[in-house]
Amino acid sequence: MWSGRLIAAMNASPSDFASAGSPGGDAASGPVLTFDGVSKIFPDGTHALEAVSLSVSRGEFVTLVGPSGCGKSTLLRIASNLDSASGGTVQVDQDRIGYIFQDATLMPWRTVLGNVELLGELHGYSREERRRLARAAISTVGLDGFEGHYPKALSGGMRMRASIARTLTLNPPLFLFDEPFGALDEITRERLNEETISLFMREQFAALFITHSIYEAVYLSTRVLVMSPRPGRIVASFDVPFDYPRAQSLRYEAKFAELTGAVSAALRGSFAHD
Ligand SMILES: Nc1ncnc2c1ncn2[C@@H]1O[C@H](COP(=O)(O)OP(=O)(O)OP(=O)(O)O)[C@@H](O)[C@H]1O
Ligand SMILES: [Mg+2]
Repeated sequence: MWSGRLIAAMNASPSDFASAGSPGGDAASGPVLTFDGVSKIFPDGTHALEAVSLSVSRGEFVTLVGPSGCGKSTLLRIASNLDSASGGTVQVDQDRIGYIFQDATLMPWRTVLGNVELLGELHGYSREERRRLARAAISTVGLDGFEGHYPKALSGGMRMRASIARTLTLNPPLFLFDEPFGALDEITRERLNEETISLFMREQFAALFITHSIYEAVYLSTRVLVMSPRPGRIVASFDVPFDYPRAQSLRYEAKFAELTGAVSAALRGSFAHD
């Protein structure tokens, strides 16, 4: 059963938006996203996913790591109904999903403000309301003063911030992130990691995040799931015991190294068993 809708697909009505809860309003309720025994075989016979079960609730930040081609993006596409499962069940309890792609996907002919207003516009918001939401989101991601800039005049990190701001305007209970910071330099990436944690603490959304960086995975998450090579299965799960907010210096502590080492070993083991 599938009951979600994707913001990026822009197919919700204004009344859906009007029913949006306040951030963290239903953090205590059950999973926002549940996969139960999900498999995916593409029409050409490519077996991408096998028996994937996972759930993500509000206030949980779950990260997937796994070898290239193991089905991570396919899993997110199924979660957002951009693609369908071949077997198993997918439940998405909430109506709105924020999907952050690796590429910021901004419209080059629109300013930052124009880009961030886009979703409110497509949802039929009044000009005044969508502008108010866009300005608040721009401020949240630290782009004050850049409202009138065009994407080509922004750095990669700023473009990604604008992309996140655009999604924030709809206050989604579920965020799907597909390697959003992979193309950025390490310092920018670390800063955006910290900003992502601040956002997560404030909004208490449910997050399903993909990265190839084990450090990023452990730093951000409440739980890290390790996938095997294709067909992707979840072969290990690690609860991350560190409190939020997480100090930058956590990355250099022994307990952090211990956990990243364990995740790395599971990942290497998953290759070995292929
Ligand atoms: N539409 C499609 N038709 C056939 N095969 C596909 C399709 N989309 C993806 N695949 C295949 O499914 C497998 C999983 O792809 P997917 O993009 O989910 O991997 P990934 O884990 O996100 O990899 P990466 O880390 O490189 O982004 C790959 O072998 C890919 O070639
Ligand atoms: Mg991918």
